[in-house]
Order: sequence, then C-alpha cells, then structure tokens
Amino acid sequence: MKTSHLLWRSLFTSALLLSSCAHPPPPESPPAPPHEAPSSEPEPESAAPSASQEALRRAEATAQELAGTLKTNLVAAMSEQGPEAAARYCSVGAQGLTAGIADARGVSVGRSSLRLRNPTNAGPAWVEAWLAQQGERAADGVETVGRVDTLPDGSQVARVIKPLAIGGPCVVCHGPAESLAPGVRAVLLDRYPGDAATGYSIGDLRGALWAEAAVGGSAPTTLQMFGALRAVMHQGDYGSKVSLGELLAEPGGHGVGALEGLAGEVTFDGGTAWLSTPDGSGAIATTKLEPGAGSDRGVALLAFHRVDAWTTRTLEEPASLAELGDRIRDAATEAGLSLDHPIPFRVEGPFEQLKYHVIDGSKLPAGPSSHDAHKDAGITVEHAAVEATLIGLWSTEHAGIFTHMGDTTHVHVTVAEPLGSGHVDEVRVPTGARLMLPTASRGP
Ligand code: HEC
Repeated sequence: MKTSHLLWRSLFTSALLLSSCAHPPPPESPPAPPHEAPSSEPEPESAAPSASQEALRRAEATAQELAGTLKTNLVAAMSEQGPEAAARYCSVGAQGLTAGIADARGVSVGRSSLRLRNPTNAGPAWVEAWLAQQGERAADGVETVGRVDTLPDGSQVARVIKPLAIGGPCVVCHGPAESLAPGVRAVLLDRYPGDAATGYSIGDLRGALWAEAAVGGSAPTTLQMFGALRAVMHQGDYGSKVSLGELLAEPGGHGVGALEGLAGEVTFDGGTAWLSTPDGSGAIATTKLEPGAGSDRGVALLAFHRVDAWTTRTLEEPASLAELGDRIRDAATEAGLSLDHPIPFRVEGPFEQLKYHVIDGSKLPAGPSSHDAHKDAGITVEHAAVEATLIGLWSTEHAGIFTHMGDTTHVHVTVAEPLGSGHVDEVRVPTGARLMLPTASRGP
C-alpha cells in the first residue's frame, strides 16, 4: 500500500502533539509542564543555589531545543517527502543536530533507550541506570527527573531526564517490524543492521531525552564538538563549522579535527593550532598559528576541549595505538576523572614506528567514503623513531562523532623536528612516555 504525502501532511499537521525521531509525549501520557521545576534538587554545598538553578535551566532549555529541532525537521521531512525520506532524514540528521546543539550550548544532550536503533545513542552511565530502573513499561506515570549531582572530582552537574512515550506517529518507524511500510523498513535495515527499536505500541516507554550541564558553567569536562565524523564519512559533509580564529581566541584549546574541504588536518595543543596540508608535491606543509591569531579559515570537523592544567604520569608499560585507550582509561580512573565525559590527553614521546597521515580532500571521490579511503587519499609520513607529542581525546560515548566505531580515541601527533602534524595511524609508545591528563578540578 502506498500512502500519499498529502495524507502524511494532514496526519502530521492535524495531530496536536507530533513526534519525531525525537519524541514529544503523546496526548494520552501526562505531558511534563513546559517549565516544570526539577523534581528533586538537593542543596549543593560548594555552589550558590542560583548556580545550580541556572545549570538546571540550561539543561532543561537544551533538552527542549533538541526535542523541538528534531520534531520540526521530522515533521517537515514527513509532510514534504513521506515516511521513507523522513526515516532517512533521521538517520543522517539526528546525530549532527544533537552534536550541534550540545556544542552551541555547552551542555551534553542526547536520546537513549533500552532498545537502541543507533548504538551511538547509548547514554552516559547515569542515564543507562535510569533506563534500567524503569525497564520495559508503559510511559504512563514515569516522571521527569531534574537534579544536581556531585561528581567524584567534586564538581557538580545538573541532570535532566525526560521520558519519551510512543505516540501514534512513532509507530511508523518504531512499531512491529512486520507492520512497517516496506520503504521505511528498507531504509532502517540498510542504516541500522542491529536495530532493536521496533515492536513498540502506543503508550510504551520508548526511552529518554537527557541533558547535563555543569554547575558554574566551567566544569573541566566540556567538549565542544563541531561537525560529526559520521557526517563527514557518510554524507561527505566537509563544510566549515567554525573558524580557526574563534578557536584561537580560547585559552588552553586542545583538539583534533580536519580543515574545511578536508584540505588537511588541524591539531590544537595549548591554544596553538598546527595545520598540515598536502604541499602539492607529495609531501606535507605544516604551519602553526599562535593563540589569539586571527584566521577566517574554516574547520569541517573538530573535537575541542579547554584544558587549564595537566597532570603528568609515566607509562610503565609500552602500548600500541590500540592499547593506548585502555591506558588512558586506567590512568583517568586512578586520577578520579569521570569516564562519562570525553577526556583530553597528551603523550610526550620519543615514539617508535610512528605513522601518520594528512588528508587530501581534493583526492576523495564525492559522497560517502571510508576511513581507509581517507588514509589512501592522504599523504603518509613515517618515522622509525622520533621525538613527538600525541594529542587526542578519549571517550566511550562518541563513536561516529569523533572516534571511529570500536575505538575510544582519536589521536593526532605534532612533531617539532622535522616539522609536521597529522592523524596517527600507527605508533609504538615505549615505557617511560609521559601521559598527561587534565588536572582534576574541585569545581569553580
Ligand atoms: C520517520 C521515522 C521515525 C519516526 C516517525 C520516529 N522515529 Fe525515532 N528514530 C528514527 C531513526 C532513524 C532513529 C535513529 C537516529 C540516529 O541515528 O540517531 C530514531 C531514534 C530514536 C531515539 C534514539 C534512541 C535510539 O534507538 O537510537 C528515540 C528515543 C526515538 N527515536 C524515539 C521516537 C519517538 C518517541 C517517536 C515518536 C514521537 C519517534 N522516535 C518517531 C526514526 C523515526
């Protein structure tokens, strides 16, 4: 059976509460009042009550913005192009929109569920715990959460969870698999081979929309994400998301990414930007922009983190690139850093068997591309032994955003002599290398 777009338009514009690959609550569930006060708000000890109120307000506003943006976009796609195109829209648009909102507001935000369609949507531990506590059930009676938590490093975060219920329009893409329109089913099968998010009925608890904001706004753990890896790889989205000048204005900038047009690699270390581009003769050209320098040049993808102070520890065992993620996790656990947030790191060498590449966007075929295609289209530099610094970010929450699937790190390197920088493909980190992690802060 074919459903006309007109029917979708009327279905979607006449329903009062429309859904999305986001989730506004269906009419039959008790909707949370739009500016509802947090349900629990323990009096914080190390910050004024107004600071925690402010953080809760930011978390709440960010959650609303994500809900509203996804809904607006989904409704437009549904009514203009039909459910199949809308499913495709959700599969390509939802991640980038979510990352963009989080970045613009400096608040972590996302959607999660016990039954995930996209594994990238797995929430941080506190969200997963809430989901597990609810279990599979009707959404009726599940309450919104708003609270302030103190992290092991002493800093505080405001956390908001909004339950998401299955409404009429949601079953178009989340109903029983055999009842989905063939076109929708095909899109979902193609994009989400492990899709667990079908089989829902109206009124079921689908999952949660969550947001977390640092109290005082200066927690040491705020990632700024510009663009998303999967949008670069799958959609060929190489456009500028932010200018180098804006980033150079921030003190303590630390980050890894790629230039607009995938014209080369960018690495931030201590507020300085290292840019490496193909020089046209098969080698790379590396330049450094000091903190505060002006530049209109655009960045297509960047995981960026402010770091005010580093704490150094010496590695007692050698590590391959693949093993580095585990070393960082262990050291961070020992240092009392939260593993729920991305962790910036530096490693000072000497290193052995270093192999890195600099992307050359002009050599990439148009459209989707693989990590290997990116490597092949780039220029590779190798050093059997070299003094250098690895610059990277660690996270278990950002697969497809700044780490490749299955990896916990995205690692670049800066080399002073012979001058160079780029994306690390192989390295042997010897015993004695100095691993640096942000100094755990006691909050503002
Ligand atoms: C047109 C198809 C479509 C409709 C309608 C739709 N969704 Fe989705 N939904 C998706 C797709 C595709 C994803 C995966 C997006 C991604 O890659 O992040 C998704 C993801 C989600 C997620 C994130 C967790 C996960 O499984 O990855 C939640 C929560 C969710 N949808 C809830 C809802 C709710 C609630 C409704 C109705 C109000 C709804 N969706 C309507 C297609 C849809």
